[in-house]
Amino acid sequence: MADMEGFKEARNIALAGNRRAADFHLKGSSHLDWGMKNRMSRIIKADTGRTVMLAVDHGYFQGPTSGLENMEDTLAPLLDYADCLMLTRGILRTSVPPGCEVPIVLRVSGGQSVLTELSNETLTVSAEDCMRLNACGMAFSIYIGAPHEHQTLAAFADLIDAGYAAGIPVLAVTAVGRDMARDARYLSLSSRMAAEMGANIVKTYYCENFERVTGTCPVPIVMAGGKKIAELDALTMAYNAVTEGAVGVDMGRNIFQSDCPVGMIKAVRAVVHYNEKPESALKIYEDEKKAARKAS
Ligand code: 5RP
Repeated sequence: MADMEGFKEARNIALAGNRRAADFHLKGSSHLDWGMKNRMSRIIKADTGRTVMLAVDHGYFQGPTSGLENMEDTLAPLLDYADCLMLTRGILRTSVPPGCEVPIVLRVSGGQSVLTELSNETLTVSAEDCMRLNACGMAFSIYIGAPHEHQTLAAFADLIDAGYAAGIPVLAVTAVGRDMARDARYLSLSSRMAAEMGANIVKTYYCENFERVTGTCPVPIVMAGGKKIAELDALTMAYNAVTEGAVGVDMGRNIFQSDCPVGMIKAVRAVVHYNEKPESALKIYEDEKKAARKAS
């Protein structure tokens, strides 16, 4: 222990002052504890205020979907370009190297499959296991307007309590019940309800009048990619989403089902982090595809 000999009194007191901690870069998050802010900053980067999350959690309800047949092969080339990985604990433990430095958001809701009622979800992973896995976030689907709406909202409320107790942010996934239209009215209802219940981040789909969704949600919104569409259309959707208030994307199928996933995630990064226009971002994808073809 340092001894008292040669002890020097504090001198530059004037410099100490009461400097305010810089405002936090994410809306609705300034009053969170340090740990929550640190984890949110690992998901949504402070330098651009944006994020490109790679979603590969689809197997929890639909099994080995196209592009996710072999998770190590799918993930290895993409990890360098993902700001964050959204996946299940089963895939994390079996298929991601523990040395991986990409922040993890764990899928913690489930309990149904494509063979049954999609909204029949509940909590399937404890906050304790999320801590054990060093997760930066917990993702839970709420099904507004679906048969199990109350069940998912009640379990979501329990997760919010556990998230605050553990200091792990909760990402609400506004899943869409089979008969619901993905319009601004429905998505702003779902996103706002999630935020009112305490979600720290909301993931929802892009729609017309998207600013009505982002502008009425007090916490950051990331856009879910949705089903595979043409690369230019997916890049345009991502560009429109961040231009209209989203802090980024949580994209899966439009990356891992692309014929050049690395090219596509690079192009998405250019759009999300640097506001690259879709047409020039598409060139990043095409150049990567050509280079990959040459190398093979
Ligand atoms: C389905 C999910 C996915 O994480 C979400 O839909 C994003 O993936 P994609 O871009 O393929 O829609 O919640 O499990």
